[in-house]
Amino acid sequence: MRNPLDLTGRRVLVTGASADSDIGLEVCRTLAELGARLVLVGRRTEALEATRALLTEPTRHECASFDLTDMDAIPAWMKKQAESSGPFHGLVHSASEQGYTVLRQVNRVQFERYFTLNVGAALMLARGFQQKGVFADGGAIVYVGSVAGLKGQKGRALYAASKAALVSVAQSLALELADRRIRVNVVAPAVVLGAKARKQFAMLPAEQNAALAASHPLGYGMPQDVAEAVAYLLADSGRWITGTTLTIDGGFTAQ
Ligand SMILES: NC(=O)c1ccc[n+]([C@@H]2O[C@H](COP(=O)([O-])OP(=O)(O)OC[C@H]3O[C@@H](n4cnc5c(N)ncnc54)[C@H](OP(=O)(O)O)[C@@H]3O)[C@@H](O)[C@H]2O)c1
Repeated sequence: MRNPLDLTGRRVLVTGASADSDIGLEVCRTLAELGARLVLVGRRTEALEATRALLTEPTRHECASFDLTDMDAIPAWMKKQAESSGPFHGLVHSASEQGYTVLRQVNRVQFERYFTLNVGAALMLARGFQQKGVFADGGAIVYVGSVAGLKGQKGRALYAASKAALVSVAQSLALELADRRIRVNVVAPAVVLGAKARKQFAMLPAEQNAALAASHPLGYGMPQDVAEAVAYLLADSGRWITGTTLTIDGGFTAQ
């Protein structure tokens, strides 16, 4: 029987793939289970190797440590990756600067921290991907955004603005890359259980934790909920979807 989520033999580059990430690791696990050949990207080689060891058929996947804040170097680095092991069918940008920055802490350094990795690298990865010989026919890009980019959150103006920018980047690039049949989409999760969520819960007073829980009508999500949506957008199941933002939020933005 045909499986529209099948990714057998497709080569996918995943950023933020370190074993101690919440969503990145689960994206890698899910794509590998669906048959993809992954290139795992992050700064720490040992954390990428730890992910690789957890995947279906570890030897099918490669680790490529790279600091994505070195934005201008991204296209040439991707070209080299494609020349050595073949073109990419997919790209998932999950690496992100995350956190809270209240207005009195906002400055140029903070601005650059959030925007270089979350937006600048997203653009340069797309620029790298669309080069001749780097993308395979039917290539797809998925950015991991956040509901913070769709709805206001106190103390998160920088993070939220960087994730909102991804919505816009995906819309414009969807048009610009459509003639090459490259699709560009965003997934926007709300709170997903894992280390980041636990840190967030520990920072908040009890009544704010209760309000946060209540703002997720279906409860909090799991990394797998996001990973499966990423797979859906990358695989043939997403072949007519581009320029969209798919919220995965247990009803958070429905209110
Ligand atoms: N967790 C949630 O509840 C939640 C909710 C909504 C949206 N999101 C979004 O989901 C995505 C994944 O979240 P997560 O919690 O799994 O992320 P995470 O645990 O913070 O992992 C981010 C990864 O990015 C890598 N990274 C950071 N800076 C980098 C750089 N300069 N170059 C290359 N890699 C870099 C880190 O690995 P190295 O340190 O090895 O580089 C790290 O493994 C993010 O885009 C986040 O905004 C998360």
